[in-house]
Amino acid sequence: TRPMPVLALETSCDETAAALYDGERGLLSHTLHSQIALHAQYGGVVPELASRDHIRRVNGLLREALAQASLRFSDLSGVAYTAGPGLIGALMVGASVAAGIALAHDLPLIAVHHMEGHLLAPMLEDPKPKFPFVALLVSGGHTLLVSVEGVGRYTLLGESLDDAVGEAFDKTAKMMGLPYPGGPHLARLAEGGAPGRFKFPRPMTDRPGLDFSFSGLKTAVLTALPAGASEQDKADIARGFEEAVTETLAIKCDRALQQTGHAALIVAGGVGANQRLRARLADLAERRGAGLFFPRPAFCTDNAAMIAYAGWARLAEARPASGKLFTTARWPL
Ligand code: KG4
Ligand code: ZN
Repeated sequence: TRPMPVLALETSCDETAAALYDGERGLLSHTLHSQIALHAQYGGVVPELASRDHIRRVNGLLREALAQASLRFSDLSGVAYTAGPGLIGALMVGASVAAGIALAHDLPLIAVHHMEGHLLAPMLEDPKPKFPFVALLVSGGHTLLVSVEGVGRYTLLGESLDDAVGEAFDKTAKMMGLPYPGGPHLARLAEGGAPGRFKFPRPMTDRPGLDFSFSGLKTAVLTALPAGASEQDKADIARGFEEAVTETLAIKCDRALQQTGHAALIVAGGVGANQRLRARLADLAERRGAGLFFPRPAFCTDNAAMIAYAGWARLAEARPASGKLFTTARWPL
């Protein structure tokens, strides 16, 4: 493979990030600033604050990424950016900066789908999964099962009809008084919980198909949560919730592997950092004799390394999604 170093920017939500990837040496550098502290007091991402903070950070982060890789703009073969889906004002920051660099240095501009970045993230690890594989994408905004036949060749197998898994984690955590984003806090609380005390439904597992529904689960938790619940009650409920989610995802992954006949499962997106989910899927993969691939936890959540890889792969295969500057809040994979 030719090196073709690509600079990538990610500003779709509440992480500002830059990264450099080339086909010879792999990931050269990546930098990131999380806005979690900025939004924590509001209990969720405030779009206007996100856009402004991206503007403040993006230049420093991309220059730091170049410096770490000892590269200059003139060494680049392309500039990639997350074009969507995401917060439109936030997306516009990365898009404008990427377009400016591309214009100034006469480089191809590569628009990358945020979820494509997530589902190619395991390609940043060693060993890489081989195509085709089944990808489970579990983030704050999406829950997807995808058949990945190659770069740019994706078939949607199933998706959530309502709340995304991460959203269900976050809303449930909020009900229990945990800080935003609640997923990791809920997971920590669940560690001290008694298994089996609370048994919550495994939505949509009793019928065929690969779609999900998680909005009912938070209602089930709300109903189970007694007034003046003790810390132990909360931990037990967190444990029950986590088990219901994990089991539901595992059942659908198993079905997707069976249906496609693919020999590998990859997991990506922020919820992919969940240890119980990882353990449950490892179990499933072993029983099926399938390969199981996870990005490192830092590449499960939003980052620019995955966008750099996707951008580079598009450029290397000469199939850039679009050379035109655009952003879009909604964008089917
Ligand atoms: O992919 P991501 O960083 O952002 C997007 O939504 O695109 O995913 C963030 C989501 C949040 O809902 C967060 O609570 C959840 O991933 N999350 C977790 C864990 N770590 C992050 N959920 C459960 N267990 C975790 N350990
Ligand atoms: Zn994401």
